[in-house]
Amino acid sequence: MTVKIAVLPGDGIGPEIVAEALKVLDCLRTEFGLAVETEHALIGGAAYDAHGTPFPKETLDLCRAADSVLLGAVGGPKWEPLDYSLRPERGLLGLRSELALFSNLRPAVLYPQLVSASTLKPEVVSGLDIMIVRELTGGIYFGKPRGRRINDQGEREGYNTLVYSESEIRRIAHSAFQIARKRNKRLCSIDKANVLECTELWREVVIEVGKEYPDVALSHMYVDNASMQLVRNPKQFDVMLTDNMFGDILSDCAAMLTGSIGMLPSASLDKDGKGMYEPIHGSAPDIAGRGIANPIATILSLAMMLRYSLDDAASAERIENAVQKALDQGYRTADIASEGTAKVGTAAMGDAIVAALRAA
Ligand code: NAD
Ligand code: IPM
Ligand code: MN
Repeated sequence: MTVKIAVLPGDGIGPEIVAEALKVLDCLRTEFGLAVETEHALIGGAAYDAHGTPFPKETLDLCRAADSVLLGAVGGPKWEPLDYSLRPERGLLGLRSELALFSNLRPAVLYPQLVSASTLKPEVVSGLDIMIVRELTGGIYFGKPRGRRINDQGEREGYNTLVYSESEIRRIAHSAFQIARKRNKRLCSIDKANVLECTELWREVVIEVGKEYPDVALSHMYVDNASMQLVRNPKQFDVMLTDNMFGDILSDCAAMLTGSIGMLPSASLDKDGKGMYEPIHGSAPDIAGRGIANPIATILSLAMMLRYSLDDAASAERIENAVQKALDQGYRTADIASEGTAKVGTAAMGDAIVAALRAA
């Protein structure tokens, strides 16, 4: 049966990095017989420019009908003056919400070839392998009421609501415990239970769910300490469970431990394992259009798609091995190049990975 993938390149470097992931997919199709077809759709600023909305109904319909979704990135300064409801980011948030992709997996793995690209000392980061499990469809990103108003003093006010129901916490906790079970059986839940009632409930429910996983060692950490510990001694973590906003922030921090934010892929899964796959970084407006962005996070997101949604661990491993081989051969985009080493552009990195795949 042919697998259908909806491809949403988005904005900024989105189209550049997605093009490289599609080269890899093409190679799997032609050289390894992967039965897959792709269909493109607009999302974010590109969709707003074409249709006046960042989240066209045709895009949602295509994603619903597809077996999986590959997304580049959305956003950029061009669309910042728009009302919130029309911003590119609303397209991405709308997709996550409409497709009920509550479980966001963000693996931070430092490849041995990139130890010197990390800003931390080799002994602190080498061998790093963390899985951040981020709740993706609730919390302060979606809580109501939200908005802006004029208060009684005539001042402008902005407000958002941090809210989680017990069932929302329970389902993401189950995802995290199940993942921890398949790894080193250590789960650290991140909260701010010393200050926020919502995250006090978070901790309570995670402890309750933990009773069903006695083989997993559960610990808790306040988010401010967690951000410090990630930089002080990141290898103490195996799986980190976070709410929506803390996970957004901590995953950018964890990305840097791996050498660059251009290295971190992600999977956003629904309760049945159907998902959307995207790098954790954004549209990088500062380097868009220059052909220098690192496509590896997107290519590794494709590998995650094959593993988590398409039940094809063999193809996923082929991709991951090809990435390692290209790194072994010395290919480096600017973000992961050490001083004095040669740099290649986005397309050359994609080509090197495809060549390694072909040679496998
Ligand atoms: P960003 O992640 O786009 O960029 C942060 C920094 O990292 C920049 O210096 C950028 O050049 C660099 N960078 C990011 N990806 C890279 C790559 N693949 N290779 C090399 N360098 C890379 O974050 P930002 O600048 O805060 O946000 C820019 C826009 O992207 C905003 O509109 C934001 O809302 C959006 N955004 C979208 C997503 C998404 O689509 N999932 C994620 C984050 C930010
Ligand atoms: C991410 C991004 C998004 C988020 C934005 C663009 C909505 O930063 O995927 O990490 O905050 O979740
Ligand atoms: Mn983010």
